[in-house]
Amino acid sequence: MDNMELIEQIQRVKHEKRVAILAHYYSRPEIQDICDLLGDSLELSRAAASLTDVDIILFCGVNFMAETASVVSGGKKVLVPDNRAGCSLAESIKAQDLIEWKERNPGGVIVSYVNTTADVKAYTDICCTSSNAVKVVESIEPGKKILFLPDKNLGAYLKLVTGREMEIWHGDCCVHERFDSALLFKMRELHPNADILVHPESRCSGDPSAHKMDRVWFYSTSGMVKHVERSESKEFVILTEREILHQMRKRNPEKTLFDAGERAICGQMKRNTLEKVYQALVNESPQISVDPETAAKAIVPIKRMLDIL
Ligand code: 13P
Ligand code: SF4
Repeated sequence: MDNMELIEQIQRVKHEKRVAILAHYYSRPEIQDICDLLGDSLELSRAAASLTDVDIILFCGVNFMAETASVVSGGKKVLVPDNRAGCSLAESIKAQDLIEWKERNPGGVIVSYVNTTADVKAYTDICCTSSNAVKVVESIEPGKKILFLPDKNLGAYLKLVTGREMEIWHGDCCVHERFDSALLFKMRELHPNADILVHPESRCSGDPSAHKMDRVWFYSTSGMVKHVERSESKEFVILTEREILHQMRKRNPEKTLFDAGERAICGQMKRNTLEKVYQALVNESPQISVDPETAAKAIVPIKRMLDIL
């Protein structure tokens, strides 16, 4: 089947089976173009929690996102195009590591980035995404010890922005770890008139000198999309996974966007293809599910996060 036929078939099966296709901004352009909702991690979690008129969610992202959708959607069937789509952050800490870290730090409040497995969320006090992490940390009683996991870069960024003391796990996103301060300074030199938008998972996010630069902002993926829409600037440097530029260009054809080249590709997100979307719909597989006992614990810190506006 060519792409046109695949898209027709996807639409047909999707309606027959009452499926909503949710996709992250790092998805391939052809998936962004057919999904029902495109968003950042927080928007996609909220959407999964509030969908009432569908029986199945097909999640185009990576496995921790589909797991979160399964936990919050109240038992809906959650399918993925490829269940090998992992994430270096989610893989950097296991539940047992967290249990031992907690034992070494009694009384610490566990703040987990949403890029974690449901097993890890089950031992977490509150989750956060890149778009609400500052608010989540600020919601914690002053003086309480914070254990933040698993992203060392987002953790360093939060420490800098909130001024809160925290212990930080040593995980990283293998893509954003490449966006160091040297790259940021080089981008400024190459594009002196551009607004530079940086994802807080990036290595440079915890560097105070990056925060002193003019016209540099730190945003979640949705925050970046909104900034490009609202800004008067004509040029933008985008330091996150580069497929997001497809959406920005679609919405702002008159603006010029630069990405960080091949280093800005998340291979895990690229595992998802239109063909696999179609096969997943037809076969109702692969499915991502979380055992009920873990889900019952994991939903608590996710709900606490969703309650923070
Ligand atoms: P957000 O879309 O929440 O900014 O997250 C980025 C990311 O890396 C997801 O894996
Ligand atoms: Fe994980 Fe990084 Fe890929 Fe996002 S970009 S899914 S954090 S590996």
